[in-house]
Amino acid sequence: MDEVAAKYNFAEMTGSRGITQLRWATFGEPSQVNSQPHLDSDGDLVGAHNGNVVNNVELRQQFMAEGLTVRSMNDGESCVHAVERYVDKGYDFIDAIRLAYGDLEGDYAFVIGRVDDDRLYAFKKGSGLVVGLGEGFTCVSSDLPSILPLTRNIVRMNDGEIVTFWADHVELRSVKDGSVLDREPETVTETMDAVQKGGYPHFMLKEIHEQSQVARELLHMLDGMSEASPRADSRGVQTVLEKMRTARQLYFIGCGTSYHACLAGAVYFAQIAGRSVIPVLAPQFVPQYAPAVNHEDVGLFVSQSGETKDVLNALQIAEERGMTCFGLANVIGSTLTKATACTLPLCCGYEISVPATKTFTNQVVTFLYLAYRLAGRDTKELAVIPDLMDKTLEMVAPQVEAITPSVNEWDDLYCLGYGATYAMALEGALKLKEITYAHCEGMLSTEFKHGPLSAVTKGFPILFAAGPTDVGLIVSGINEVTCRGARAIAIGEEDARLRANATDLIVLPKSTPEIASLLGVLPLQLLSYHMSVLRGFDPDFPRNLSKTLTVD
Ligand code: AGP
Repeated sequence: MDEVAAKYNFAEMTGSRGITQLRWATFGEPSQVNSQPHLDSDGDLVGAHNGNVVNNVELRQQFMAEGLTVRSMNDGESCVHAVERYVDKGYDFIDAIRLAYGDLEGDYAFVIGRVDDDRLYAFKKGSGLVVGLGEGFTCVSSDLPSILPLTRNIVRMNDGEIVTFWADHVELRSVKDGSVLDREPETVTETMDAVQKGGYPHFMLKEIHEQSQVARELLHMLDGMSEASPRADSRGVQTVLEKMRTARQLYFIGCGTSYHACLAGAVYFAQIAGRSVIPVLAPQFVPQYAPAVNHEDVGLFVSQSGETKDVLNALQIAEERGMTCFGLANVIGSTLTKATACTLPLCCGYEISVPATKTFTNQVVTFLYLAYRLAGRDTKELAVIPDLMDKTLEMVAPQVEAITPSVNEWDDLYCLGYGATYAMALEGALKLKEITYAHCEGMLSTEFKHGPLSAVTKGFPILFAAGPTDVGLIVSGINEVTCRGARAIAIGEEDARLRANATDLIVLPKSTPEIASLLGVLPLQLLSYHMSVLRGFDPDFPRNLSKTLTVD
């Protein structure tokens, strides 16, 4: 963003309105012509969107057939022409938007204005959109944290609404009949700390170090001990547990990092509570399980943002099948929290960095907590987690920094685990891929010999996340690769067998087997972070990625 601002002299631009967009390419390659904002045929209208207009191809053909000038492949341009075609026919601007709304299929937030007018207009379908009311200015954004440094007074937009905004006031209307809607602004009271780096060079490092604090808040909230907690209450926990106890089958459903938490959760539910759970990637839930679920089943839909389209798609199908659907989300007020019978909050505050860290560990802590409750175990045993997280970071930081330069010489890595550490290995591999752009495959340690072993060459780095009860099995895996020249970097508690067999051992503090697997992800987060920085990348904003994926 800074590069673009410098190249196009943003600082010298004059005027009282502006539209900027950081594009995550869906239609059309990343290029200048496909960049937003877009103009209409004669340059009178300008607009930009966030999201995915699924009938973009059909619309572009219609616009060209109607004689409109289509310059790019981007669906954001289609949003502009969708309004233009009705303005050209003589419709009033609001009516043109109402008609365009019916033509645009998909999930998106869109802002548009006329060159010769001091107003801007915005509307949304499916995606998020927030209006910020500042001192002498008004803004809209698809991302609430982006406007919090500017103002705390906001209006949350719903689907089917159009906002017209001037510098000093806004007007909300219904798409259905154009009538004016009355909505009191709300004040966001959450602290600004979450949207500032607080002395850290990157949000990711700050959020890694916030893990103990948010885990502490989460445990307090889940136990209903923290009446002062500003973020949520614990009533939902009871509801979720009651349904889980009697469910025919449990499903944990998510994508990316949230899916990895589901994998860990399924292991905890089996090991701690003797309950079998099916963890599944949200898009695969639809063909593989949805046809077989019914009202006797319970699904927990897990999502940091609560806006991931793949998760919302699965939720919609599950609800149509009558399944009891709960959420586990960080962003309260998100679509997931509104669409489920009850959503447990992750209590992490804003997570700004694209790579999820603190929301992952709080997802895992929630699963541990629910498993303990189902098993009738005392959840106070989990109260040691926050301090252990701090201790882990303190212990592993120098160890990780020491190995970073040599691991960084490789562009191919593996990260292996077993049981609950399998989920940590997948998560560590995802972090490494996401922010270092190296290839890192996460895998069940026992699977490595079934093929990937052939990739091993001298010095090839393989990370092993070792839970205390699985050391014997992990050591077998370590020896299989070290005898072929690989460098085995084990992550686990101090153990003579790991010490003797691994090339390097990153030592975690002593805890229980369940907690140890959770702690094992922290050095992997740190390794990814340091490698990313060493490579000259910005770990907070990796190329090609977006924090929230509101597209199919
Ligand atoms: C995590 O580092 C990634 N940014 C990504 O895998 C993410 O977890 C995934 O897109 C799901 O997001 P959600 O938790 O907001 O649904």
